[in-house]
Amino acid sequence: MQKITLTQPDDWHLHLRAGAALKDVVNFSAAQFRRAVVMPNLKPPVTTVRQALAYHAEIKDALQNPQDFEPLMALYLTESTHRDEIKRAAEHPCIHGFKLYPAGATTNSEAGIGSLQNIYPLLEIMERHDVPLMIHGEATDPHIDIFDRELAFIENSLFEIIERFPGLRIVLEHITTRHAAEFIRQAPAQIAATITAHHLLYNRNALFQGGLKPHFYCLPVLKREEHRLALLDAAASGERKFFLGTDSAPHPRHGKENACACAGCFTAHAAIELYATAFASVNKLDKLEQFASFNGPDFYGMPRNSSQVTLQKTEWEVPAGYTFGNDTLIPLEAGRVLTWKFDKTPQNSQ
Ligand code: DOR
Ligand code: ZN
Repeated sequence: MQKITLTQPDDWHLHLRAGAALKDVVNFSAAQFRRAVVMPNLKPPVTTVRQALAYHAEIKDALQNPQDFEPLMALYLTESTHRDEIKRAAEHPCIHGFKLYPAGATTNSEAGIGSLQNIYPLLEIMERHDVPLMIHGEATDPHIDIFDRELAFIENSLFEIIERFPGLRIVLEHITTRHAAEFIRQAPAQIAATITAHHLLYNRNALFQGGLKPHFYCLPVLKREEHRLALLDAAASGERKFFLGTDSAPHPRHGKENACACAGCFTAHAAIELYATAFASVNKLDKLEQFASFNGPDFYGMPRNSSQVTLQKTEWEVPAGYTFGNDTLIPLEAGRVLTWKFDKTPQNSQ
């Protein structure tokens, strides 16, 4: 297969940052995706509709072609989120849902949730107004092995949330284990998951191969090969509960190449190419469109995109770095050759 044509995909999990950094990354995503759920873990976090609308305007302002890309705003859920904020979010077309970060689980999660019980009244309102909840699903107890934190969250917290709020639409974000994939498969229809390209392409060896490799460090951290294979099986299965969310998370080079390296892999420069590489590795390119372009909008009850994009089988070298404010951004696969190339001009089929 030399060329594939897809309905234009969406990215259901993306970090864009703010200010100069935002300007340097957003057009990578806008070149490939029609819509993206923009995560709210800024400093300070995006906790209100008002803040999200200001951020939405800033993103639109940073776009080369603002009409071609729609940011879908996620609000940061805190223990002091006001009930009325949830109603406002439900009514506003730019707001996509709330993101739950367990406090301490990841980058800028300090304002997140300490005790889940404290937000049950908020989850009840979200359930009533059909506002989706996107979850960073990792337990934060430092005694739990870092490779087991996703499973611990599922067992200790997610079961209970689903049982208490059976009507709440939940997306378990960036799943990384066989357990999570199996859990999602057997969970009720309103529970789904996103999967990143990097968790489909690499196992935890990538972190240590030939020395410590901070550009492969993200959270949840890469897992064993058996988990990567289970995720690839889920993503390429065509099952409707799994969809594309890059979790592309840019950090300045000095923050990554640091004794206390930041978590996050930047993949927006080659997002769909990286997914294509993963799907091609198991001869499942025919399932890429379902995963990248159909399952997400179907789950969220949104229209599928009408535009189309193409991928060519062409070799190209990923640049060694990109400008990122006054620093450098090291993309995933920097300096390596990829075999799929996105055609940068989306063809509108209308
Ligand atoms: O690797 C990650 N980076 N995981 C997250 O949950 C957050 C993200 C970021 O914002 O950098
Ligand atoms: Zn994320």
